Amino acid sequence: MKLLTDYSYKKGSRNLIYPIYEDRRIDAEITNLLGFDLNDEIEKSLGTLTSVHTLGKLPFSKIIFLGLGSSADMTTRSMRKALGALSEKIKDSMDFALRFAVTETLDETAIAAIYAETYQMSQYEEQIQGHDAKVIPKQYVISDAQINSQINIQIEEALTTGEIIGKAVNYEKILADTPANLMTPSILVQKAQELAARYHMDCTILDMDKLTEMKAGGILAVNQGSDEPCAIICIKYQGNGNAPFKAYIGKGLTFDSGGYNIKSNSYGMKYDMIGGASVLAVMEILAATKARTNVYGIIPTTENMISGHGYRPQDVITTLSGKTVEIVSTDAEGRMILCDAITYAQTLDVTHIIDMATLTGACARALGTTYTGIFSNDDDFCAEFQDAANRVDEKVWRLPMDQEYRDMLKSNSADMKNSAGKPLGGASVAANFLQEFVNEGVKWVHVDVAGTGEVDGHATGVMVRTVAEVLK
Ligand code: BES
Ligand code: MN
Ligand code: ZN
Repeated sequence: MKLLTDYSYKKGSRNLIYPIYEDRRIDAEITNLLGFDLNDEIEKSLGTLTSVHTLGKLPFSKIIFLGLGSSADMTTRSMRKALGALSEKIKDSMDFALRFAVTETLDETAIAAIYAETYQMSQYEEQIQGHDAKVIPKQYVISDAQINSQINIQIEEALTTGEIIGKAVNYEKILADTPANLMTPSILVQKAQELAARYHMDCTILDMDKLTEMKAGGILAVNQGSDEPCAIICIKYQGNGNAPFKAYIGKGLTFDSGGYNIKSNSYGMKYDMIGGASVLAVMEILAATKARTNVYGIIPTTENMISGHGYRPQDVITTLSGKTVEIVSTDAEGRMILCDAITYAQTLDVTHIIDMATLTGACARALGTTYTGIFSNDDDFCAEFQDAANRVDEKVWRLPMDQEYRDMLKSNSADMKNSAGKPLGGASVAANFLQEFVNEGVKWVHVDVAGTGEVDGHATGVMVRTVAEVLK
């Protein structure tokens, strides 16, 4: 997005987007130039668009009025909604008259950031394989501030950051939308290496040999049935000197057939690596914005397939931590790869861990596609996460972690089972399983996006902005 300074209607070369509140009148200069008072002709309720032809009175052909409702009611969330509705309709480059959207609580910079972010996100379309990716037209934002003023510098920064974030969210969607035959664990490894190289970050790949040597039995067990090698990817972003590191871990299951507990329908399971995709997106945001923070982005990646080598129900697996797990369901594979990633992260001395996974159908059933479920062992860190989600207008709901759910995982043959084998409380049971691998003193938030990561067959990019906001 480009900032336009020294703008005048008479010099405008692109169509104008004019945001308008119900309680405000259209700029008198426009009314004069058009020779007509449009105030009663256009819709001003939130998110409505009215396109008006300038009939040769101005050098561009249309003014698109974007209704914003009452200025007193405006929030960042409503602004996102309105700018999202607008952005979906935009087909070519236009000039956005920023100042008319400003209210007492929302200044130019806040709006510019939301516009840049929302515009990128709303323009995304899944690419049909073999066709070119959609080109997103460039947009312009008009500032009426003095040309070299501080405020213009801030608006420009907001546009740049908003665009970085929006593009990173789209990058998550591109990776997630890519079909499983074209997004194997090895390809995900390549994508991670490319990203790391682009931003000069260290990227460690724990390959099959290394995982075997380390005895990462959880991920290796899930991988047994697959012909594709598995890996744990670890990207290091160091933007804050010698400060302690945090870890962001994402489930990178490139396809989940369920294994021998085969799914009746695995349509949608190419999306089981959304957690991993979001790790790459968040690392890109941190690196591109040069965030003052230290973060390891970790992705355990494999397929969950069926073959003569596949792991079986009742197998006992020794995980990287040394803890043993009785397999109740080969379809509860996400936790088997995440537990090894959590153990590995802690060998890097992290103080905080966030993990994100399309982990349980139970979470999707409980919260639908509206709220993302979160779980934590620490009230303060959880509150930080919730505050960050609020700031970027994403919805999270904290779910319980009580001991009773842990008790459901008692096993006769191992330290614990990987599933209770009962269709009750599954999201909390899974969170308790993961918590068993989190060391005393490490602050941890687990994010279950099974319901929100993909909606109606499209990756949503959910939680990328929240996690980047928490970790920055
Ligand atoms: N990847 C699935 C969870 C999932 C289901 C994500 C639907 C998105 C949409 C996960 O690996 C899984 O299969 N979970 C099982 C766990 C059960 C066997 C304890 C589930 O939720 O049924
Ligand atoms: Mn599964
Ligand atoms: Zn899965």
